[in-house]
Amino acid sequence: MPLQMIREDITRVRCDAIVNAANSALKGGEGGGGVDGAIHKAAGPGLDEECRTLGGCEVGRAKITKGYNLPCKYVIHTVGPRWFYGKGKWPEQLASCYKESLNLAKEYGCASVAFPLISTGAFGCPKEQGLQIAISEISRFLLENDMLVYLVLYDKAGFQVSKKLVSDIAEYIDECYVNEHRYDRRAQRSYPPPKENGAAPLAQSAPMAPAPGAPRAQQSLNDLLNTMDESFSQMLLRKIDEKGISDAQCYKKANIDRKLFSKIRSDVHYRPSKNTVLAFAVALELPLDEVQDMLMKAGFALSHSNKFDIIVEYFIKNQNYNVFEINEALFAFDQPLLGV
Ligand code: APR
Repeated sequence: MPLQMIREDITRVRCDAIVNAANSALKGGEGGGGVDGAIHKAAGPGLDEECRTLGGCEVGRAKITKGYNLPCKYVIHTVGPRWFYGKGKWPEQLASCYKESLNLAKEYGCASVAFPLISTGAFGCPKEQGLQIAISEISRFLLENDMLVYLVLYDKAGFQVSKKLVSDIAEYIDECYVNEHRYDRRAQRSYPPPKENGAAPLAQSAPMAPAPGAPRAQQSLNDLLNTMDESFSQMLLRKIDEKGISDAQCYKKANIDRKLFSKIRSDVHYRPSKNTVLAFAVALELPLDEVQDMLMKAGFALSHSNKFDIIVEYFIKNQNYNVFEINEALFAFDQPLLGV
C-alpha cells in the first residue's frame, strides 16, 4: 500500500498507529511541546503512565504504547537525533527511527501508520533533508510490505522541496501558461469562422448526422465497435510485460494500492482516474508520447491549462520517474498526488 502526504495535526489522524517524535526519557507528558506535547495532551494521562514503565528509549530506536484517547490503537515513540551543525551520524539515526517504527507497526499488525517529520522541530534537523530521509526509508519499506503510511506535514514550511526544483517547476508552469494562453487568444480571434460568399459559418450549418436507425450507419457503428482499440487495462498489462517487471513492482512503484490494481487487472474496461493513469505511466517510465497514448485510452489528456498536468509533464520530460519526488513537488504546489 502507498505513501500519502497530508497536511494535518497528527493527533487527529485516524489510523492504527501514530508515531511520536519523543525524547529519550519518554517524558513528553511533562508539559512538553511539539508533537510529543500534542500527543500526550490529546491521549490523556494514561499515556504518560505507560511511558514511565518503559525505561526510556535510545536515539534511533522505537517503543510502543496504547493510544488511549487518541483515534489510533497505538502510539510508537521514537527518538530522533539532534542536529548539531550537520555533524555526527544523524542521517543514519534518523533513517533508523523510520525503520524501527515501521517494523514495530508491522509486528503489531498495523495496516496504517502516520509519521510526523521526526527531528525537524526542536531537534533542529533541516526539514528538506529530514523529508528526503523519511520518504526514502518509507518507500524502501513499502517495496517489501503492504501498509498505508501517512507522512504528516504540519506546516507549509515543513514541506519545502528543493528551492531550485520549485523555481524550475514554477518557471516551467509560467512558460506553459504563456504558450497556452497565446494559443487560446489565437483561437478566440479566429472564432466564429469568417463567412465566405455569404455561406453560414460551420458551427451553424445543418447537422450532418444521418437519421437514427439508418442501416448503413448501424453497420459502420458495429464495425467500429468490433475494431475497438486496446483498452487502458490491456495497455497497462502489455507494458508491464514489455518492461519485464512484476505486477507488484509496478503498482508499488506507482504508489497504487494492491486492491485497486487487482480491479484494473480483472476488468478489461476499467475506467481509472487521471492520476491513477499517470501514476502507472510514471512507474513504467513511459516517454511523453506513450503517456499521452495511455491517458487517451482512459479518456484523458495532459493539458497546459492546469498546474497538476504541467508538473507531471515536467518530471516526465526530465525523465525523473520517482513517484515520491513527483508527489513532493505536487504537494508543494498544493496539487493532488499521484497514485493513492
Ligand atoms: N502534528 C504533526 N506534526 C507536528 C505537530 C502536530 N501536532 N506539531 C509539530 N509538528 C511537526 C513540526 O513542525 C516538526 O516538523 O513535527 C516535526 C517535529 O517537531 P518536534 O515535535 O519538535 O520533534 P523533534 O524535532 O523530533 O524534537 C523532539 O521535542 O517535543 C520535544 O519531547 C520532544 O525532546 C523532544 C523533542
